[in-house]
Amino acid sequence: MNKLRFLQGVCVITWALFTACNPQQSQEHNPNSTMDVHSFAQPDVAVVKHLDLAISVNFGNRIISGTAAWEIETNGAAGQIVFDTKGLEIEKVTYGNGNPAEFTLGKEDPHLGQPLTIQLQENTEKVVIQYVTSPDAAALQWLDPQQTAGKEYPYLFTQSQAILARSWIPCQDSPGIRFSYNAKVQVPTDLLALMSAGNPTEKSSDGTYTFQQPHPIPSYLMALAVGDIRFHAIGRNTGVYAEPSMIEACAYEFADVQHMMDAAEELYGEYRWGRYDVIVLPPSFPFGGMENPELTFATPTIIAGDRSLVSLVAHELAHSWSGNLVTNATWDDFWLNEGFTVYFERRIMEAIEGRPYADMLALIGFQDLKNTIQRLGDTDPDTRLKLDLKGRNPDDGVTDVAYEKGFALLRTIEQAVGRERFDAFLKKYFNSHAFNSVTTEEFLDYYQKELIGADSALAKKINIRQWIYEPGLPGNHAEFSSERFEAVDQALTELENGSAPAQLQTQNWSTHEWLHFIRHLPENMDSAQMKTLDEAFHFTGSGNSELQAAWFLHAIRNRYEAAYPALEEFLVHVGRRKFLIPLYTALTESPGGKEMAELIYRKARPNYHYVSRQTIDELLR
Ligand code: BES
Ligand code: ZN
Repeated sequence: MNKLRFLQGVCVITWALFTACNPQQSQEHNPNSTMDVHSFAQPDVAVVKHLDLAISVNFGNRIISGTAAWEIETNGAAGQIVFDTKGLEIEKVTYGNGNPAEFTLGKEDPHLGQPLTIQLQENTEKVVIQYVTSPDAAALQWLDPQQTAGKEYPYLFTQSQAILARSWIPCQDSPGIRFSYNAKVQVPTDLLALMSAGNPTEKSSDGTYTFQQPHPIPSYLMALAVGDIRFHAIGRNTGVYAEPSMIEACAYEFADVQHMMDAAEELYGEYRWGRYDVIVLPPSFPFGGMENPELTFATPTIIAGDRSLVSLVAHELAHSWSGNLVTNATWDDFWLNEGFTVYFERRIMEAIEGRPYADMLALIGFQDLKNTIQRLGDTDPDTRLKLDLKGRNPDDGVTDVAYEKGFALLRTIEQAVGRERFDAFLKKYFNSHAFNSVTTEEFLDYYQKELIGADSALAKKINIRQWIYEPGLPGNHAEFSSERFEAVDQALTELENGSAPAQLQTQNWSTHEWLHFIRHLPENMDSAQMKTLDEAFHFTGSGNSELQAAWFLHAIRNRYEAAYPALEEFLVHVGRRKFLIPLYTALTESPGGKEMAELIYRKARPNYHYVSRQTIDELLR
């Protein structure tokens, strides 16, 4: 054992003893060490600062291969650095000077993958990892040409959140660890490559693309899309990417994005990322949207033709502040990302569409929240804002609680302190924590110091600790109502009283009114009633995915079989998990529906991304 290693050993033992005797104190001595139970990294010992990625994308064998060169920072005594990997083959590790480094891959954990431990030398500042991904890497979805709109070229996209970045890049895969990156990506010459960074607007002649992300970001925001993709500018610093046959429709749908940007900057300060573009992906994308910096990834199911589902873009844009600029330090703090973003999203929508519009979104969200809390039970620990996901998949924390209970808390605070004061607080919060990751407890300290101060009556009125650390919905929540939905409720009453659907006053209804209408139809309807409704309003054949999904749910529960072929078509082509979960669940709960669900799933599964497969495999097991 060399002297340095021996000294390190002594240090580790001393530290372990010290920690064992003084758990409290060691926390205080280490204020920056936030324990992330979903990463093997030990950032207190050695942490990444910058990545130089050089990869090539091979559609033939569905692998990415190349090198991840990491600039690192160590505490003086560091003997090793630990990375997260999942299914990666590590071919070779070298230091910055090209000399080989010793490394080991540890035992595999089903959620977390394997730790990659690299031995460091004195003054090591860089490690270069040469690696190959697995053909079934969790973050990667490889599409055959038939699964794209154009049917001519293959397509690849990544989904790194929450802990899947490690399946395509060896990284310290924790939202509390940030790094800047440069990348060089080689793809087939006919295809365009885009990342969560400064992006090209045209194909290169040789299939090589270079990217720079100068701001420090967490690994879950690493992203790549490769395909036959075109660009269309929207405004000053906004634009859209999509397959050629979709690009015009997407540009039309997103015409308001520049206004959203202007409204967002007006609310909470300068947009710090340069450009903001949206890429509309093929329908198997498992989420509605993903806030990859400079390039939001979006599902094509929001291209409704009437711009009615664009609040999703407001949501992903808002993440440029809440999430990407100020990031949840661990997945237990997920509400800091999503609750703030839902609040910000609705403020943007209020600014461009007016309060009655934003009120509809808020009320739909609040109803979702109440349903979720009812389903989970109001004493369930997962209904707390601060989660405890140790030993679990962080995906388990992705529920309406983080989004809508988070939103309800922020709206409650807004009402208690007044909007002007709350806006000033939020703006200052984003600025003072820019490019940093924050724990719930750090937020609480800041809230106490900057918003509450000595006003104990105010603190008591809001009682924020109950919201955060206790399950269920606190009784002091803000009230939600919508004047536009009152007209819908009126129509629903008339329908129940026997009016014919065609006689209802539905002119000028937006998607949101229709959604409210479908969701509040009488629970039990016979096929004749369903048919009359469908003939009047054409829900089954609607081109609007939100309306279709809501209608199909109602159709399954009432065994309205005329809708089943369209339902099957929808489930086979759309991989968006938010739609899949309720639809498959309703099928399994309906008589004979389990078999139908399994039949459809057999056809649909090859079209779904890993995260949707995981969920539906579990659901149908
Ligand atoms: N960041 C999320 C998506 C996500 C969360 C992916 C957790 C993986 C793990 C994104 O911003 C989001 O919330 N998307 C929503 C849409 C939004 C309008 C509520 C979605 O995909 O449905
Ligand atoms: Zn979000």
